Amino acid sequence: MTDHLTDGSPAATPRAGGNAGMSSEYLEIRDLRVTFDGFKAIDGIDMTLMQGDLRFLIGPNGAGKTTLVDAVTGLAPASGSIVKSGVELVGKKVHHIARLGVGRTFQTASVFEELTVLQNLDIAAGASRGPLTLLRKRKSVLPAIEEALEVTGLGALRERKAGVLAHGQKQWLEIGMLLVQNCSVLLLDEPVAGMSGEEREETGRLLQRIGGERTVVVVEHDMDFMRSFATSVTVLHAGKVLSEGSVAHVQADPKVQDVYLGTAAGGEEIEDARAH
Ligand SMILES: Nc1ncnc2c1ncn2[C@@H]1O[C@H](COP(=O)(O)OP(=O)(O)OP(=O)(O)O)[C@@H](O)[C@H]1O
Ligand SMILES: [Mg+2]
Repeated sequence: MTDHLTDGSPAATPRAGGNAGMSSEYLEIRDLRVTFDGFKAIDGIDMTLMQGDLRFLIGPNGAGKTTLVDAVTGLAPASGSIVKSGVELVGKKVHHIARLGVGRTFQTASVFEELTVLQNLDIAAGASRGPLTLLRKRKSVLPAIEEALEVTGLGALRERKAGVLAHGQKQWLEIGMLLVQNCSVLLLDEPVAGMSGEEREETGRLLQRIGGERTVVVVEHDMDFMRSFATSVTVLHAGKVLSEGSVAHVQADPKVQDVYLGTAAGGEEIEDARAH
């Protein structure tokens, strides 16, 4: 692949809040494979993710996007190599990978609905004060939690139960929980699914705010959202990398158009993209 990101030519152009520190490699994935009963869900993937990258991972249903996130976070058994800042992740347990600063969200929100925003962040921060003290109102808030409240815009809602938050706010809380866990690599599985247009915009800006010093991978079907916020894109198809580079590059790639033309909505999206 001539314009693969590993050939030294960054495909992404710098943008506000985006790839500020694209100098150090954060995640190096090599020949990654995940097999379920002989079915190759991930079939030899190479990917290099840099600090400051806001990488979108797209591809048709069943392409292997979630499985890739599962493999990176230790939930799916993988072979090959995933190195984060010199440390091999393949073979490590889920909690160990999390402690190394790799965090993810799921396609469905997984906050504690009966607890407040603050209590959810407390738990994520590992402020282990026992279940009873946790339920009492705490007097001081950890600086990392204050920062997460600020950056996610949830400060005014800190005492609100997570269960009554709007859909978008729950996703932002989940992202806040990754921030207080000190994640430097965040993998977000369809974070804007079900969100209003306004919530999508806000989420995009949130990702740009947190992205500068971190590596953010966004699995997404929303092409408009991708066009607005991606600094680089990887297209997966049948467990392999089909195309990779800037938004303009992957949209113009005939291989990508072929795959998306196979699905009505995707075809329109890519056609629409060509018209821009
Ligand atoms: N635990 C599992 N056991 C068996 N097959 C699985 C398992 N998890 C995923 N698969 C299969 O692996 C392939 C990739 O699935 P995956 O969920 O990674 O796709 P995806 O790209 O995230 O799709 P979507 O856009 O629909 O979320 C699919 O064919 C799926 O059926
Ligand atoms: Mg998925």
